[in-house]
Amino acid sequence: MAPQPQVVALLLLLLVATATSTPTLIFLLAGQSNMGGRGGATSGSWDGVVPPECAPSPRILRLSPDLRWEEAREPLHAGIDVHNVLGVGPGMPFAHAVRASRAIPPSTVVGLVPCAQGGTPIANWSRGTELYDRMVTRGRAAMATGGRMGALLWYQGEADTIRLEDAEAYAGRMEAMVRDVRRDLAAPELLVIQVGIATGQGKFIQPVREAQKAVRLPWLKYVDAKGLPIADDYTHLTTPAQVTLGKMLAKAYLSTLY
Ligand SMILES: *[C@@H]1O[C@H](CO)[C@@H](O)[C@H](O)[C@H]1NC(C)=O
Repeated sequence: MAPQPQVVALLLLLLVATATSTPTLIFLLAGQSNMGGRGGATSGSWDGVVPPECAPSPRILRLSPDLRWEEAREPLHAGIDVHNVLGVGPGMPFAHAVRASRAIPPSTVVGLVPCAQGGTPIANWSRGTELYDRMVTRGRAAMATGGRMGALLWYQGEADTIRLEDAEAYAGRMEAMVRDVRRDLAAPELLVIQVGIATGQGKFIQPVREAQKAVRLPWLKYVDAKGLPIADDYTHLTTPAQVTLGKMLAKAYLSTLY
């Protein structure tokens, strides 16, 4: 028996819906807890507050832990930044601000690829480490569905403020990591937007900030988190701070399109 025309139409519609649910513009998000997102989550549980700038949208997807595109929602790093209480990070407000720009076609579907893990020094992100390999695997899986890679958003360094040797080695380690990621993703001109740290787990915050500013690489942008509101734990950006940071990151990305 031939299928009903309505059934055929429905199947076609499903196919089209599936086909459009892959992103056209992809961003990798990596680093430690302030990228993983702790907004509203610094007193043992997440308060569940999702500002409008972080609301879900059918045009903002995330790559799930098992490498499938799905509608993104807070906490964006669920299942990725493991063993931590997660809250709001900069990814969703970043994606909304990018989508709102006239520099971007309105049909753009943003694909966010969360990769951050709390408490990790940059040594945990050198080529061959678990976190590095996960980031590259996720980046490749994201690119395999056809979207263009827009940038790597990097917010990390707090864990490198504990030992002076780590602070002093920071710029070199960052340069090596970026070179490796660009090579392994076959994206030699991959834009990297680095966030200047606002807090630290140790006392060498200023040396790490100076090392971050000393990183010498092409296609590198710097956005400073210093001065944004910090939670009572003196370590994590609040939800409003993450919304501001997301907008700052978007501005830095959009400035490269002209
Ligand atoms: C970070 O590196 C240390 C030392 O090599 C290792 O013991 C630890 O498991 C790493 N953590 C992560 C999350 O990769």
